[in-house]
Amino acid sequence: MRKLIAGNWKMNGLRADGLALSRALVARAAAGDPPDCGLAVCPPATLLIPVGDTLRGSGIALGAQDCHPEPKGAHTGDLSAAMLKDAGCTYVIVGHSERRAHHGESDAVVQAKAKAARAAGLVPILCVGETLAERDAGETLAVVKRQIDGCVPQGLRASQLVIAYEPVWAIGTGRTPTAPQVAEVHAKLRKLLKERVKDGADVPVLYGGSVKPANVLELLSVANVDGALVGGASLDAADFWAIAQACP
Ligand code: PGA
Repeated sequence: MRKLIAGNWKMNGLRADGLALSRALVARAAAGDPPDCGLAVCPPATLLIPVGDTLRGSGIALGAQDCHPEPKGAHTGDLSAAMLKDAGCTYVIVGHSERRAHHGESDAVVQAKAKAARAAGLVPILCVGETLAERDAGETLAVVKRQIDGCVPQGLRASQLVIAYEPVWAIGTGRTPTAPQVAEVHAKLRKLLKERVKDGADVPVLYGGSVKPANVLELLSVANVDGALVGGASLDAADFWAIAQACP
């Protein structure tokens, strides 16, 4: 399966920063020798349209970081999946651990968001992953099973879903799981996806959490790792490009 490298810019960047970063990526894409992977960036909502305009024709897809479950209505401050599609998005991240933790998003809410994304023609990048306390308690596989069972809508095809395994304790910490730890979780996710999605063998399962140019080769070489969801390192064009170029 072709790997996917997606950048999650989180709440970073004014317009000038987002334009500079996206222009730097477009320049690299146009310079020849493009990486052999799919590429996407997920800027903050204020930058979706200018960044999308910059990326047009570059082969780099646009994604959002969240959507509301409802198609429209009295939801002050929220954005519907259709609005994100209309702004040029292909992807939307749902269920990121920062939203689960800071906005109290339950598995049921995440599933509703994934359904809304699908209904609008977006591909949800659905995040799962355990906290450090859950890992220490030996609950990692049970946690990701509960999250997949609770968050993945029924009836999706592989082309309509991306999963990202992001151990909460690895996000923004510089710590990453060992290759065998990643392999164990990704094997479990593959098994669960095969049970839940018709062509579940083909659902891309990304790894996320402190992915850097220095560790990406090892992470991408783990079985069932189909790409990376990159936070901090995606804010640096050279680092993001180096990560993408690590794709076999
Ligand atoms: P990080 O974030 O690469 O900065 O650890 C990853 C993520 O939260 O998606």
